Amino acid sequence: MIVLLGGSGYVGQAFQAELQRRQLEWVSLSRASVDYTSPDVLTDYLRAVKPRFLINAAGYTGRPNVDACEVAKTECLAGNALLPGVIRQACETLGVPWGHVSSGCIYTGCRADGSGFRETDPANFSFRQNNCSFYSGCKALGEELLVDAQKCFVWRLRIPFDERDSSRNYISKLLRYSTLLEATNSLSQLTEFVAACVDCWTMQVPFGIYNLTNPGVVTTSEVVSMIQQTGLSAKEFRFFRDDAEFMQLAARAPRSNCVLDSGKALAAGIRMSTVHDALLRAMKNWVWE
Ligand SMILES: NC(=O)c1ccc[n+]([C@@H]2O[C@H](COP(=O)([O-])OP(=O)(O)OC[C@H]3O[C@@H](n4cnc5c(N)ncnc54)[C@H](OP(=O)(O)O)[C@@H]3O)[C@@H](O)[C@H]2O)c1
Repeated sequence: MIVLLGGSGYVGQAFQAELQRRQLEWVSLSRASVDYTSPDVLTDYLRAVKPRFLINAAGYTGRPNVDACEVAKTECLAGNALLPGVIRQACETLGVPWGHVSSGCIYTGCRADGSGFRETDPANFSFRQNNCSFYSGCKALGEELLVDAQKCFVWRLRIPFDERDSSRNYISKLLRYSTLLEATNSLSQLTEFVAACVDCWTMQVPFGIYNLTNPGVVTTSEVVSMIQQTGLSAKEFRFFRDDAEFMQLAARAPRSNCVLDSGKALAAGIRMSTVHDALLRAMKNWVWE
């Protein structure tokens, strides 16, 4: 069976739906039932159930957004930086293969030639650069703890969206924010992301880091145009003048806007639709909350 940590969360629920769809046997753990943040508790649990694979979809993201991580630093550090190290220790002790949901938010911008960051590029939005939000710094630390980890996938998710209206969905956020920040980003369609993660395991691709973003990049204004073209909203969208105005009026911590290269996953046989196709499909099949 597969052990899923953080199955109660936004990403964890998408994993549960995917495991159900594939009729794979899994158990979803909550800290309330099994405190998987404790090295001893987790190791004892895994020793008893002997899972074939473990998925870590747990972490602290902050509500309503990452600005909350500037305050809840202990939870953020525990959920995003320490927890991956705890899981690594338990899984390596018992030889359990596993995958960790990380984030593309450890980068800002793109490579000097305009292309997306590859898995081999060091994080450039982290505590080491001293330019990041507390959340991004913790996600980068979490990845540092997994350098050379055995039998471990690191799956980078980036700005998730799908066709279901929700406060966590990127398209819903654009529909609801009063003013938007123009930026260029890679994105991950959530259902495709979790399918790609499970594929990594079932297709036995080599362990390591994978940028699991839909190929291509989009700007905020492109997504807004698609929202208008598909008739999802007739609202008039307003934009901040620049990053400085956004930081002054709407944000506490700097945001990561970045482009990731998804070529490594593609070369391994992991397929995701282009970001424009995935966005259009989500908007055409939109289900209001
Ligand atoms: N959502 C995004 O936009 C996004 C983007 C990129 C990456 N990610 C990453 O994806 C993972 C899951 O994110 P999510 O959006 O699904 O988060 P979420 O909805 O808040 O769910 C995360 C789950 O993690 C568990 N958890 C374990 N330690 C925790 C802690 N210290 N504080 C709070 N919760 C903790 C909780 O489950 P139990 O208490 O039931 O165990 C919680 O339900 C995180 O690592 C996040 O950094 C998310």
